[in-house]
Amino acid sequence: MTAAQRVQQLRAEIRRHEELYYTHAAPEVSDTEFDALMQELKALEAAHPELHADDSPTRRVGGRAAEGFDTVEHVQPMLSLDNAYNDDDLRAFDERVRKGLDLGEVGPSYVAELKIDGLSIALTYESGRLVRGATRGDGTRGEDVTANVRTVRAVPLALNGGPPGRVEIRGEIYLPKQAFARMNQEQEAAGEPLFANPRNTAAGAMRNLDPALVARRGLSAWMYQVVAPGDLTAGPPLHAGMLRQLKAWGLAVEPHWRECDGIDAVIAFCEEWREKRHDLAFETDGVVIKLNDVAARERLGTTSKFPRWATAFKFPAERKIAMLHRIEVNIGRTGAATPFAMLEPTVVAGSTISMATLHNPDDIIRKDIRPGELVIIEKAGDVIPRVVGPADPDAAQRPAPWVMPAACPVCQSPLHKPEDEAVWRCENSSCPAKLRRGLEHFASRGAMNIEGMGESLVGQLTESGAVKSLADVYHLTAEGLEGLERMGKKSAAKVMAEIDKSRRNEVWRLLYGLGIRHVGERGAQVLADHFGSVADIQAATREELQQVREIGPVLAEAVRTWFDEPRNRELIERLRAAGLTVTGERKVAPAGPQPLAGKSFVITGTLSGMSREDAQARLEALGAKVTGSVSKKTTALIVGTEPGASKTEKASALGVSTLDEAGLLSLLTSSVC
Ligand code: IVH
Repeated sequence: MTAAQRVQQLRAEIRRHEELYYTHAAPEVSDTEFDALMQELKALEAAHPELHADDSPTRRVGGRAAEGFDTVEHVQPMLSLDNAYNDDDLRAFDERVRKGLDLGEVGPSYVAELKIDGLSIALTYESGRLVRGATRGDGTRGEDVTANVRTVRAVPLALNGGPPGRVEIRGEIYLPKQAFARMNQEQEAAGEPLFANPRNTAAGAMRNLDPALVARRGLSAWMYQVVAPGDLTAGPPLHAGMLRQLKAWGLAVEPHWRECDGIDAVIAFCEEWREKRHDLAFETDGVVIKLNDVAARERLGTTSKFPRWATAFKFPAERKIAMLHRIEVNIGRTGAATPFAMLEPTVVAGSTISMATLHNPDDIIRKDIRPGELVIIEKAGDVIPRVVGPADPDAAQRPAPWVMPAACPVCQSPLHKPEDEAVWRCENSSCPAKLRRGLEHFASRGAMNIEGMGESLVGQLTESGAVKSLADVYHLTAEGLEGLERMGKKSAAKVMAEIDKSRRNEVWRLLYGLGIRHVGERGAQVLADHFGSVADIQAATREELQQVREIGPVLAEAVRTWFDEPRNRELIERLRAAGLTVTGERKVAPAGPQPLAGKSFVITGTLSGMSREDAQARLEALGAKVTGSVSKKTTALIVGTEPGASKTEKASALGVSTLDEAGLLSLLTSSVC
């Protein structure tokens, strides 16, 4: 078999497994087997660049971060839905539909679908290939998030025998409950505030400028609508047929939809899912009811905001009354002091709640939440419980209002609140609580990856005073560890070996593990690649830091502030002395002549002789900037085959010149000479 044939075979096989997993929920292979296929394909593509294809499953992450999103216009406005909160509202909707269609008492056929709590997305396929993904925006204009949408594995890059022309498919991008929980665990370990609900988190992820990061979020998608079929002949006459069509094209369609004859069947569906929804892997906040007959929808039309042929039934948020025993304050890694409620354990929406976030002190005062009395609790977005307010605010006898403690509950140093922030902080850099969260983060898998150094061991090490600074980790002894709870000889030796191994970690892991504000995994990698060593980052000025691609002023400032603190510099010195790797390889091309300095390019479409990343790297090596969106400052738009309409339109509107691939090549070669 030739490499080309094997590549084709692997691409088809990987796509088949993606479809089995996301569209049919019937995987045939394990994750490991799937990863092995992917690795083989990646290796072959690397060895044979001539086999490049933009819709290869390896090319979901299209290289580098964008600089912003283009605005794109929707072919048809993306409307929202009118809401129904109870059976009466649903019956009123049905009556309007029957009246509008002259149906008398006989109810029409509806399709009831679960309402996915995510963000709406419009995918454009041209000749079956994904060419654009756009957010809803204001309904008329959204943002071009194609690079991010491509990273969502439930979104096929190519449709199975898809329609020949241009077709827009709409649906919802969402964050599965598990992925959301994992993200919040990471937030917690990093001492950062928790994400409130999967919808906002998914929306935030989709608007991130770094597709590689978006890919790691674990977003998924359900699609439910075909719009503007263009040169397609009339689609299926029923919505149910359209959903089957979408599935046949290989798109993920949420499988629990049902055809309902008349509104009673719809009401029964809503009732059925009120509880059952808690068992789903994603959040749903209601049911969308749609008229099945597509032609009849046209007859009903839309108001300026909503279609008259559909409505959204919203499940009531589940509320309970529980005793609020105490309000405690948690100190995060950055010293942020966040109050939380300790409640009598109570079952709400399928799970037992004994703690709830309280956001910030102002919020507690505003809602008049007082410890020692009954409060109403609710699960917002059905994930994070919150305290709504007192159960009986007018009670004759109430406990005293709560006041934010003036001192850190752990180290007793005064808490401070900057004027323009709602967050109080413990500023004592050796506060044991901060150290504890900081060490949890330092040892975590994403950072120094010290297996065995989890919450329990970290708690004991910081409480006993064995670790007073991150550097003390490297002076621990097996004998010292053996004295601790759940630490036998064997586990102690294992942890010691893990600690030792971490000395040889790549520099970025250390940088990330230090817990410098705003420095996430990606930021740490970029800094390490650019500067090579911790010493060089420490020596860099704010301006030098900011000149690094992807490093903005906030991050540059945070890095500078961190290294300006003498105690932090001392920490680095101690870590270096303990044998940690603080110098790596610089992964930046040595600067050659920069004939294109000051020039800025945008690339759109597919280039035949090189990948877009290669083109970008070659332009950048000559001093040019390559950005994600066309502006007045763009020197030229480089246009490959199947270019993005929005970029070419914007270039022509702004009078920005364009360059085809031949032009690009001559630019590159003439600039090199
Ligand atoms: S149909 C014109 N179906 O809910 C009708 N929407 O509150 C277009 N949503 O903007 C929407 N699940 O983002 C439809 N199964 C579903 C849905 C759904 C979630 C979202 C959608 C819409 C919002 C309206």
